[in-house]
Amino acid sequence: MIDHKLASRRQILASGAAAGLVLAADDALAQPLLSPTPACHDGDVPTRPEIEGPFFKPASPLRGDLREPGLAGRPVELSGFVLTRACRPVAGALVDLWHADDQGEYDNKGFRLRGHQFADAKGRYAFKTILPGLYPGRTRHFHVKIQAAAESPVLTTQLYFPGEPRNREDDFFHPELVMRVAPSDDALQARFDVVLAMR
Ligand SMILES: [Fe+2]
Repeated sequence: MIDHKLASRRQILASGAAAGLVLAADDALAQPLLSPTPACHDGDVPTRPEIEGPFFKPASPLRGDLREPGLAGRPVELSGFVLTRACRPVAGALVDLWHADDQGEYDNKGFRLRGHQFADAKGRYAFKTILPGLYPGRTRHFHVKIQAAAESPVLTTQLYFPGEPRNREDDFFHPELVMRVAPSDDALQARFDVVLAMR
């Protein structure tokens, strides 16, 4: 169930709903998670930054599929657009994803559950991964870095799951960073559109 108290206006609009229309949760879940074009507006608020945390590693592999043979955990397909404040797609934007395994452990020796890719011509990115596990002091989350181009500023932030009991207790949690999540077959479909602080 999507939590509308936590979903930002922009994320609701991204579902394809008409401006100002508040959908019932079931209706929202019926919307396609990756609309052909994002519904956004000139002047959207940039995605808020958040701490990097202690487990970032540079030089992750170029890959959209982080699943490996033998890797436990519920499949998650994370996708969205990288956009400017004026709602222009940021083609070629770097999106770097890293997160804990289903036991809440990070791979600090290798690159398991770490990877980056570049947004396509429409600003779209997509990862196949698994549901991150919980670890002490934190709610369930993904870590991401997004960069428009090599010399551009890097946005470091975290993405959260709706309806997680620990969201309320985690000091880093913020409702603007909650993904839209819906089940689909055996995988969870998670959607988050990133807005960079650029025109
Ligand atoms: Fe973390």
